[in-house]
Amino acid sequence: MVTVTRLLISFLALAASRLPLAASQELPDYMMVGTDGAADEEVRSFHINHMGLNVHNLTTSMDFYGNVLGMRHIITIQYTPSYSLTYMGFAQGGRNGTGFQTGAELLRDKNNMDGLIKLFHFAESENSLVASTGRTNTLTNIGLVVPDVQAAQDRFERHGVKIIKRIGETTVSASGPLANATNLGPASTQDAAEVDAVIKGLLTTDFENILFVEDPDGNMIEVVKQDGF
Ligand SMILES: *[C@@H]1O[C@H](CO)[C@@H](O)[C@H](O)[C@H]1NC(C)=O
Ligand SMILES: *[C@@H]1O[C@H](CO)[C@@H](O)[C@H](O)[C@H]1NC(C)=O
Ligand SMILES: *[C@@H]1O[C@H](CO)[C@@H](O)[C@H](O)[C@H]1NC(C)=O
Repeated sequence: MVTVTRLLISFLALAASRLPLAASQELPDYMMVGTDGAADEEVRSFHINHMGLNVHNLTTSMDFYGNVLGMRHIITIQYTPSYSLTYMGFAQGGRNGTGFQTGAELLRDKNNMDGLIKLFHFAESENSLVASTGRTNTLTNIGLVVPDVQAAQDRFERHGVKIIKRIGETTVSASGPLANATNLGPASTQDAAEVDAVIKGLLTTDFENILFVEDPDGNMIEVVKQDGF
């Protein structure tokens, strides 16, 4: 019975993961595709370019986003000896097959790119920053798309990245990092049955195949495959 249920869950996850690609398919009634028309003229070229993070240790964060995730250092602005801002971005010149852009080229293209990370670092700060895995706040996660989630998981393990949930795992601790980051932790609810029901709901989508890791400050990074959901 357990096996049958697991199989059913895997099948549902697989089916759900294909949903966006199969528009003709009927969606279950708890999924609602947006029906917005075109946005108005004034906002036509608005796009979200970066996300800013306050970091404890710039060296550690640049090592993670740079050497582990593969983002490139675009620029650091040292406003004062102790306060700096650093932009990192994936080399979007990979489209010509080289996967390479110099920092100067990335800087020139900066405002035409998406998915950049801006790291704020204040060496004098005594503020111990709290990430969403440590206590629920308005940031839930950063989403990373990779061609092969298993290969990404192996790479993260080799680099000693903190893994919250591996591929294939389906259990979620109600007071753990994943629950905290998704507004299901102790600061959000004490209702274990509700948390359980949400997790069952997650399992009907692609949750089982998603990898969750933490950046050095405890920000949750969700890793999904290109054709994942
Ligand atoms: C930041 O991290 C690096 C290594 O990751 C370490 O050598 C350094 O001491 C840390 N800096 C502070 C201020 O903790
Ligand atoms: C590939 O494209 C990037 C981005 O435009 C550019 O910086 C790089 O010089 C290009 N490489 C080659 C070999 O054309
Ligand atoms: C989740 O958040 C609570 C506070 O709401 C905290 O006590 C707990 O340590 C956090 N869990 C983790 C794994 O950080």
